[in-house]
Amino acid sequence: MIVKLCNVQDLPAPGEMRAFQGRGLELCVARPRKDPSRLFVFDNRCPHQNAMLNQGSLEGNVVVCPLHGWRYDIATGCSDVAGDPPLKTYEARQQDDAVFVQIP
Ligand code: FES
Repeated sequence: MIVKLCNVQDLPAPGEMRAFQGRGLELCVARPRKDPSRLFVFDNRCPHQNAMLNQGSLEGNVVVCPLHGWRYDIATGCSDVAGDPPLKTYEARQQDDAVFVQIP
């Protein structure tokens, strides 16, 4: 299912993240400073203990959880911490003035 996530004007600035809620989902959009034309969308809640990832930091293509510092690749959802569940990521695309995500 494809759902509208936000309007383009609501996207975070390059190098920043912003959370969006709706349809029972809490998603985070990140725009890496190096390539702000790319949009990365992932669950806003850390798979470890539910911290809000948009309150963490963005280091290139890695989001760092604000609570215990776990790091997730925002393109793949993989973490460098062994045994943890991966972060769920979503495909995003921009069409006209809106951003849509593919929800399984
Ligand atoms: S809640 Fe994110 S690393 Fe623990």
